[in-house]
Amino acid sequence: MRRPLVAGNWKMNGSREMTQTLVSGICSGLAEGGGADVVICPPYVYLDLCRQVVGEAPIAVGAQDLDAHEAGAFTGAVAADMLVDAGCDFVIVGHSERRSLYGEGDADVGVKVAVAVAKGLTPIICVGETREERESDVTAEVVCRQLDAVIAEAGIDVFPKALVAYEPVWAIGTGLTATDEQAQEVHAVIRARIAGTSEEAAGGTRILYGGSVKPDNAAGLFSQPDIDGGLIGGASLKAADFLGIIKAATQ
Ligand code: 13P
Repeated sequence: MRRPLVAGNWKMNGSREMTQTLVSGICSGLAEGGGADVVICPPYVYLDLCRQVVGEAPIAVGAQDLDAHEAGAFTGAVAADMLVDAGCDFVIVGHSERRSLYGEGDADVGVKVAVAVAKGLTPIICVGETREERESDVTAEVVCRQLDAVIAEAGIDVFPKALVAYEPVWAIGTGLTATDEQAQEVHAVIRARIAGTSEEAAGGTRILYGGSVKPDNAAGLFSQPDIDGGLIGGASLKAADFLGIIKAATQ
């Protein structure tokens, strides 16, 4: 009932040439009438190029972040209206690298989610615990705190339009993946937390898993009842790997 979605987060990687080759490769390998939504999230400067190369192919383009302000004197920042103007439909919000390296707090993430939805963008809201937090057995507490801040700032009505991505920080770029059961357990916690405010919103919200997803572990993760697709980092930079993961989501 929830259509799977696979999003590629390229992080700060690429060049015009690499973008052209990668997007063309993804477009040409995409199966006709595929059963999953596909989103690519390049760095800001390649959004326009991605839109051009995608053309009529069924691939949406997303940004990796946004600034919550309206256009104005905010040097270095990019506003939601600009993302819409560049052809974005999606935006990643609250990625763990934004939280840990750029000091984004839970409430900042909630405000960005509210702005994204108000401007017509679909946010992919990242939550997840660090290794220390998992070892201290506070995983559920951490993801619920992160989610609660979104609900407090943006309102429950952003769901089910908004997506959640569970990305355990210890699994990002490390080659360590949560087991299917570990991931499912946290996805169920996330869905239950949304259901605590609205059952309907919870039932329709797509919850993605992210953290070292590869073609050979994707099918197991995606077969879990509360895992509705993936947010893919490293493997989205290789067309064959990304296509393999998309295929796993459609089976
Ligand atoms: P990796 O797939 O490289 O672990 O990255 C996950 C991620 O952070 C996607 O947003």
